[in-house]
Amino acid sequence: MHSDANPTDANPTDASPAGNSPAGPFDDGLRFDDTGKVTLDHIYTQPDPHAYFSTLRTLGYHIPQLAKPFFSRLIDECRAQRRLPPTVLDIGCSYGINAALLRCDLTMDDLFERYGAQPSPARNVLLDRDRELVRAHRRSSGTRFIGLDASEPAVSYALAAGFLDEAVCADLEQRDPTEAERARLDGTDLVISTGCIGYVSERTLARVARATGERRPWMAHFVLRMFPFAPFAETLDELGYETVHVDGVFPQRRFASAQEQEQVLDTLASVGVDPRGLETEGWLYAQLHVSRPRGAAGRGANRPVFGQQPAGTLTGRRT
Ligand SMILES: C[S@@+](CC[C@H](N)C(=O)[O-])C[C@H]1O[C@@H](n2cnc3c(N)ncnc32)[C@H](O)[C@@H]1O
Repeated sequence: MHSDANPTDANPTDASPAGNSPAGPFDDGLRFDDTGKVTLDHIYTQPDPHAYFSTLRTLGYHIPQLAKPFFSRLIDECRAQRRLPPTVLDIGCSYGINAALLRCDLTMDDLFERYGAQPSPARNVLLDRDRELVRAHRRSSGTRFIGLDASEPAVSYALAAGFLDEAVCADLEQRDPTEAERARLDGTDLVISTGCIGYVSERTLARVARATGERRPWMAHFVLRMFPFAPFAETLDELGYETVHVDGVFPQRRFASAQEQEQVLDTLASVGVDPRGLETEGWLYAQLHVSRPRGAAGRGANRPVFGQQPAGTLTGRRT
């Protein structure tokens, strides 16, 4: 991990970025979006997570694993500050991935194994297995997980499995939340995301923040370096937030092909990000941005992002 900002319990998969070919594992014939990234929409909308994990395993996708200890720590901080089990909203939750990791103490490798069998068991078999897992890991922490995603099949699976307690299936890029959705989002303490910024813009974050009532939730987003966070930080600033960019970078996944790498390098150049030693070596990298309402985050300008940290681990830049 190219980061000195990782809590000590970080447990990346063995998908090490070192020594992998920049060309990527996929053949030609891929489709790409406007940012140059490969289009994987088809794996986000299957009735169960098999295609999602089979495909992303090939690409070494493991950002939820790297995010897990940071989210855990924020959940603990939230609980300590609010003196109540927090409610966590995962934007772009897909099949309930961050919730599954946090709630059932799983790793991404566990999920790759769990859903990777060929041929895949039927959806109801996977669901029965997952429900059992959730029951076995029911802990007394009381943390509630809400998911937001535009994919109805993914959200349905996450709810049916029990990874999520509640969900909002909506594209909040396009519209405001309905009254019913607003009621579900209200009371959120912490908003998290991995691999979703880029699909959603600051519009979604602002709509979520406004829907959560007077007490704004904390936010922690792992965002690819090709997506500048400045517009998000500005919007959040207007909503009363202060944003800290946690030092360090986090390998998200391998490029799917040489063409994807070339296109993403172009995008990085266009937003003034130097890819040398990182994306030039064959992996996409993310950064962690933590936003908290001014006052909640700001007591003491030198306060470490995650509270008291071991020396030299977690530092950040404020905007
Ligand atoms: C790369 S996946 C990340 C999933 C999960 N967070 C993870 O890290 O494994 C991106 C997710 O964003 C969702 N998504 C795309 N556009 C969206 C939108 N406008 N609103 C909400 N979710 C969206 C997709 O359906 C998909 O589940």
